[in-house]
Amino acid sequence: MKKIVILISGRGSNLEAILQANILKAGQAQVVQVICNRPEALGIDIAKKYQIPVTIIDHTSFSARNLYDEALLEKTLSFAPDLVVLAGYMRILSGPFVSQFFGKLINIHPSLLPSFPGLNTHAAALKTGVKWHGATVHFVTKDLDVGPIIIQGIVPVLPNDTESSLAARVFEVEHQIYPQAIEWYIREQLVLELGNVRVDPARQQFFMLPPTP
Ligand code: GAR
Repeated sequence: MKKIVILISGRGSNLEAILQANILKAGQAQVVQVICNRPEALGIDIAKKYQIPVTIIDHTSFSARNLYDEALLEKTLSFAPDLVVLAGYMRILSGPFVSQFFGKLINIHPSLLPSFPGLNTHAAALKTGVKWHGATVHFVTKDLDVGPIIIQGIVPVLPNDTESSLAARVFEVEHQIYPQAIEWYIREQLVLELGNVRVDPARQQFFMLPPTP
């Protein structure tokens, strides 16, 4: 049984999609803890609904950033996770945290990376006039939103889209691709090669990559 720790800051809709994933129902992995940096986050209630223990580490209660970072690292390590999942966790992780969990730390970002890293991705997509937008699950590295990509989900940008209509469409694919990425990880079907990720064709069951020329 692989142990997963999930970090959240907000609504927790990705947390809920993950908690409903087949890989958890099949008993191959267990979410052992949700850690949240905002005491008022709605995602805390979602964790409780699924009877997942929650640790709240309120970043505003620390006098210095490094003290919060140390507390987060120590608490996360205490669960000895096989995988750390950032599900709408909105703080930049410290270098030591990223190094400690390198290769076991994944994030979902609401754009088709490398387009639109950072915040306000839906507004940026509308402003730029792209016709396709989406979400990306990737391994976390020390630089923001540039780690090896595991899976992407794409949606069209429609003529009358607002930020919220586009966000809603992106959320739908987020809730599909994050459980999928976690399932691949737990089944050890992801192969990291030269900074890229592929789904091991010898072991995957979902789709084959085109043969390399
Ligand atoms: C999601 O759209 C996720 O992609 C984004 O925050 C939202 C969290 O929603 N993450 C980032 O922007 C990370 N840089 P949720 O709390 O409902 O899962």
